[in-house]
Amino acid sequence: MGERNQFASKFGTMAAIAGSAVGLGNIWRFPYVAGNNGGAAFLIIYAVICVLISMPVMLSEFVIGRKGQSNTYRSFIKSSGKKGWGIVGAVEIFAGLAILAFYCVVAGWSLEYIFAAVTGEFASFSGGDTAEIINERIAAMGQRFDLFVGQGGTHILSIPRPIVWTIVFLALNCIVLAFGVSKGIERCSKFMIPALFLLLLVLVIMSVRLDGFAAGASFLLKPNWSAVTPQTIMFALGQSFFSLSLGMSAMTTYGSYIQKDQSLVSVAFIVVIATILMAVLAGLAIFPSTFTYGVEVTSGPGLVFKTLPALFASLPGGPWVGIVVSSVFFILLFFAAVTSSFSLLEAGTAYVTEEWHIARKTLSRPVALTILFVLVGTLSVFCALSQMEGTSLIVMGESLFDFIDKLTSNIILPLGGIAACILVGQLMSKDVVFNELTSNGQFNAKLVRFFYWMARYVCPIVIFYMFIKGLE
Ligand code: PFF
Repeated sequence: MGERNQFASKFGTMAAIAGSAVGLGNIWRFPYVAGNNGGAAFLIIYAVICVLISMPVMLSEFVIGRKGQSNTYRSFIKSSGKKGWGIVGAVEIFAGLAILAFYCVVAGWSLEYIFAAVTGEFASFSGGDTAEIINERIAAMGQRFDLFVGQGGTHILSIPRPIVWTIVFLALNCIVLAFGVSKGIERCSKFMIPALFLLLLVLVIMSVRLDGFAAGASFLLKPNWSAVTPQTIMFALGQSFFSLSLGMSAMTTYGSYIQKDQSLVSVAFIVVIATILMAVLAGLAIFPSTFTYGVEVTSGPGLVFKTLPALFASLPGGPWVGIVVSSVFFILLFFAAVTSSFSLLEAGTAYVTEEWHIARKTLSRPVALTILFVLVGTLSVFCALSQMEGTSLIVMGESLFDFIDKLTSNIILPLGGIAACILVGQLMSKDVVFNELTSNGQFNAKLVRFFYWMARYVCPIVIFYMFIKGLE
């Protein structure tokens, strides 16, 4: 057997892992949830939860992966010494692939919109930016989006466009991953994550010039403690788990690629800070325009694919402003999505190449990726179809797309997080865990003791409590 894959450089490791974390969740969910739940008050609660609860979970997943030196399924078995724990790993991998399936659909939309932006569909109109006109534009953009996801017109061979883009996006992922962990994922992330940061900065700088900047910034950043309820804390925990890609086998798999002499605590800390920073910047890029034009603040696809294009088309300064800003925004959205999807697909790829055999031979990456392309691609197509009018793809009263989202976010992610904490905090030998976390005594043991204690006693209880509350 050849050498196992690894990330090649420290910066590349951070970029790839931050790439997994920074995704659609940061751009369209965080700013909205924060704005409506107390602004800076939410931000503070969120940051505390990220460091005290989510970071120990992330470290536990890193430990399981780096100690196991294997895919998530095998790493759970190796770390626990019990075959039964493999089930946890396997469930996480398959849930991750299911997330990937619906993630590809949305990421596909970003490709459609890059095209639309570059070809001038969101070029700014001049003058007449009354509330009425803006609302008309939002309605028109809304119709454009609904048509696109609902029927989508026709494309080559009459395949609806959302399906074409979804498959294109998945294929791009497979091509990058075929190059391997360091030459594919790491190399792309090293370029895309700094680019994402710069593009976000460009948008923030452009939005500083808008009249509504102060109002938008204060919506996001003014602390309003009276808006904080027990619900807020639940939101913060759920958002931080999804955003930091926990409980989904992504971080366990990436953990197995971190070099032995790199500090897991610093990787986790930098990733947490980068994720929060990007989410705040996204808010500062988006909200000033909604406040400038007095439109309702929303989140999710409605914000990104309906409201924002209408606002881009209303920016002052000539048609090119709309073209540039909308192109930058949708390229940024694509970078955020693709670096996240790498991690989910890689978790599956590591599993298939290491566990599946044909005629007693393990599979090569290209073969594994072809198998995953077919499996995930099929589920993705069903997810895309489940968004269309008159669909019969309904599971438990929800479209397949929403069902997978809720099942994974509300159930599998928290349970996966608890499992990682119990394994690392209670079942693995303390020495082994400490050796991993301090890289054999190289790094500060005091901090490590703190995170170990949190993972051992506090995190499982807190997450379990929230999980039960969330089901009520
Ligand atoms: N963290 C990504 C986001 O915030 O959009 C999504 C994600 C990626 C979730 C990988 C889970 C995961 F394993």
